[in-house]
Amino acid sequence: MCGIIGYIGPKNIVPLLIDGLKKLEYRGYDSAGIAVVDSGKLYLQRVKGKINELESTLEGETVSGQYGLGHTRWATHGRPSEENAHPHRDCTGSIVVVHNGIIENYLTLKKMLREEGHEFVSETDTEVIAHLIEKYFEDKLEVAVQKALKELEGDFAISAISTKDKEKIVAAKSGPPAVVGIGEGEYLISSDINPLLSHTQDVVFLEDGEMAIIRKDGVEFRDFDGKPLDKPAERLAWNPLMIEKRGYKHFMLKEIFEQPQVLRDTFEGRISLDSGTVNLGEIEISPTNLREISRVVIIACGTSYHAALMGRYLIETLARVSVDVEYASEYRYRDFILDQNSLVVVVSQSGETADTLAALRAVKKGNPLTLAICNVINSSIARESLGVLSTHAGPEIGVAATKTFSAQMAALALLAIHLAQIKKTIDSQESLALIQDLQRIPHKIEMILNEADIVEKLAWDFVPFSHFLYLGRWINFPIALEGALKLKEISYMHAEGYAGGEMKHGPIALIDEKMPTMAIVPKDRVYDKMLSNISEIKARVGHILAVAFQEDEDIRDRVDDVIPIPSTNQLFTPFLTTVPLQLFAYYIAAIRGADVDQPRNLAKSVTVE
Ligand code: F6R
Repeated sequence: MCGIIGYIGPKNIVPLLIDGLKKLEYRGYDSAGIAVVDSGKLYLQRVKGKINELESTLEGETVSGQYGLGHTRWATHGRPSEENAHPHRDCTGSIVVVHNGIIENYLTLKKMLREEGHEFVSETDTEVIAHLIEKYFEDKLEVAVQKALKELEGDFAISAISTKDKEKIVAAKSGPPAVVGIGEGEYLISSDINPLLSHTQDVVFLEDGEMAIIRKDGVEFRDFDGKPLDKPAERLAWNPLMIEKRGYKHFMLKEIFEQPQVLRDTFEGRISLDSGTVNLGEIEISPTNLREISRVVIIACGTSYHAALMGRYLIETLARVSVDVEYASEYRYRDFILDQNSLVVVVSQSGETADTLAALRAVKKGNPLTLAICNVINSSIARESLGVLSTHAGPEIGVAATKTFSAQMAALALLAIHLAQIKKTIDSQESLALIQDLQRIPHKIEMILNEADIVEKLAWDFVPFSHFLYLGRWINFPIALEGALKLKEISYMHAEGYAGGEMKHGPIALIDEKMPTMAIVPKDRVYDKMLSNISEIKARVGHILAVAFQEDEDIRDRVDDVIPIPSTNQLFTPFLTTVPLQLFAYYIAAIRGADVDQPRNLAKSVTVE
């Protein structure tokens, strides 16, 4: 969703802001703009569309400057247009604001401000903030911002500058993320760490209710009442190379190929082949507490929800605890029932998804144990959960989640084995065997990736189709859902994921020669059942591609095409079946010329409801 970048310091500011905006592009946006103050004069440029269009409008300009803001907008209030793009200004044109989030009471505020004589030029909720700051401005920007904040309802991260109170950026957070970068003689503010990495790895994450007053010689932190806060900087483990494409055509392809390493990193230090155990001491939920758990509820959205569904099978099978998996956007409004023996696991790559965060806050009222599985350290969800199990996937730039999905499944597999050890539902030999199987997964993924051209060749055959069915059963049912989601979000092809056994209850009516099926058929406890489902489709002249074990010769006579994968423990097949489906979606989208890394209408981190 919207992205904010701000800078104060000696560097050439316009290219710096543009570079920052490019690193925020992956969050999803439909318009962009910058505002720079150069020798006391404000320079502002905005466009509807992509950052390279903004760059073109800036060509030939000789603007430099000492401080400024940039913004990518994902429209919520008001269509994508130049007037609605940020930065927004007050009536005098001296106060400039960028905003991420939603001001829920903006209509009331707009009416009030209009009656007081303020003139509005956009349809956005954001513009009220600029006028409110104008209303309260005397001589100090931070004081006016602080007063304006008191009037705002909703979720927001804002940054403001002014030509009347120079060389200062005031930022505030109540909802969406905001992080201050502390460089050498330079300071930045951003919606996430990616634009900061090429300048500094020392950062301060703002918490809700906190402001930063950033000057060229330092940063001051305060709460919304003006009380000073002591917030030391922390050093990031991510580096700038991690957010480069490194020769791949798209970030998504690079991230698919990173999966073996991501899994190794996620297992590292947590599994021991010597003792045959999983050690998750880091999650700060004691074995005594975990032993008492009688129910697990996993809450997530989108791809993370699919990882959660896969985790359910693992936890139920290995730890013999009942697991419910819930969409955060639904659960938050339910009259749910949780007791002290429930463990609530929230799964979120970004750790900022508004629905997941709201569901976490709602469940915390009942005081259950909460555990976050997150990829972004220090994200809101990670900070607000009792325990955290980090997925060590590194930054994911492609909007479609790939490597973080595998890392989430890996984290859930570790959790399942950990719980099973604590509850003694598996013995040490079983535990060791599981760990050995898990450890072999990265190499098996490498084997699949080495033959990515098989998937690419097949993809060419299916580019002309408009619909696709994905079928899986048991632990691969979530992978059918995920495979279908990948195809729809990046290729805009209609795809449905179904549990194989559900076909005859309705969806089989769709089958004809125009509706191909991707069947996930590893040799597992439902293999024969899947074969029956495949026969039912074949009888209705549907074309079938199967993801199956390479040594499975029988399947070749039953389907039209096979994507082979190495065999593995049936509980861990999703790690392998996922990869060809990601590649398949990627190649179809790439062949179709789609914007693979930034699919239309999508945002990487959905920070509004
Ligand atoms: C799909 C995708 C989304 C996210 C969803 C939740 O490829 O990335 O469906 O999985 O928006 O995001 P997080 O995991 O950040 O909470």
